[in-house]
Amino acid sequence: MDTKPIALVTGGAGGIGEACARRLAETHKVVVCDVNEDAAVKVADEIGGIGLACDVTSEADVRSCVDKVDSDVGPLRAMVMCAGIIQERAFSPEEFEQDHWDQVQAVNTRGTWLFCKFAGARMAALGGGSIVTISSVAGHRSWPTHSYAASKAAVMSLTKGLAAEWGRSGVRVNSISPGFTLTPRLKELIKVRNWDTDTLSNQTALGRWVEPDEIADTAAFLVSDMARGITGIDIPVDAGWLCGINWLSFNGVPAAR
Ligand SMILES: NC(=O)c1ccc[n+]([C@@H]2O[C@H](COP(=O)([O-])OP(=O)(O)OC[C@H]3O[C@@H](n4cnc5c(N)ncnc54)[C@H](O)[C@@H]3O)[C@@H](O)[C@H]2O)c1
Repeated sequence: MDTKPIALVTGGAGGIGEACARRLAETHKVVVCDVNEDAAVKVADEIGGIGLACDVTSEADVRSCVDKVDSDVGPLRAMVMCAGIIQERAFSPEEFEQDHWDQVQAVNTRGTWLFCKFAGARMAALGGGSIVTISSVAGHRSWPTHSYAASKAAVMSLTKGLAAEWGRSGVRVNSISPGFTLTPRLKELIKVRNWDTDTLSNQTALGRWVEPDEIADTAAFLVSDMARGITGIDIPVDAGWLCGINWLSFNGVPAAR
């Protein structure tokens, strides 16, 4: 019999979510949820998990996904919420279409909220669990993709609020803020935005981009007992982008000695 604790990863069909699902499968039975059902099932099959279709923006979908896990798989002990969309282009407030603003908020903010509301509340009722939300360095700074940055700041705020809400019930809630992470989606955006990749890596203390596995390792740490005293915090996994970016005002981060 499989006695591994149960973890759920949203957006687990690709990118950071897929890396998290694969990493958590070393210690957990993983439910891979994604709006892309075929890809979720494929990842789940490869890691001995369960793939489920779920649109995180739909209250009915999230509720039924959490119910299904509870009835068919068992009590959830860990959850990593990676489902998200990156706003493709920066729009000025004057040209920002309301539908586009709402779509980003619906997936990133509402989707995170809904999974916390249903799965987090159940963990609290059962007396324990660990939740990791995915914010972004964009939520820490002024950023020209207005809806995306606001959604990620909201995720950090929600994380801290829920950590206080459920701390006495044994549920820890923390966020990770990835920096520029080389997922297939970001690689596409690099082309669309015609980004100079050297410029971006030069902004970080470590002089490079982040790999999806590095986010997954941090998520695995946060859901593990090694992080049992940690709740309500945000961990940037950004190759030192947040600490390096202001150095551009002083000719940049120094070269290796
Ligand atoms: N890649 C980066 O540089 C970066 C940086 C900071 C934060 N992030 C955040 O990390 C998370 C993952 O990013 P990624 O680069 O891996 O993106 P990705 O596009 O590769 O993966 C996102 C996954 O979420 C799924 N998804 C999208 N909408 C959904 C919905 N409504 N319901 C369920 N699933 C849905 C997609 O199908 C996909 O599998 C996002 O929240 C993103 O904002 C990424």
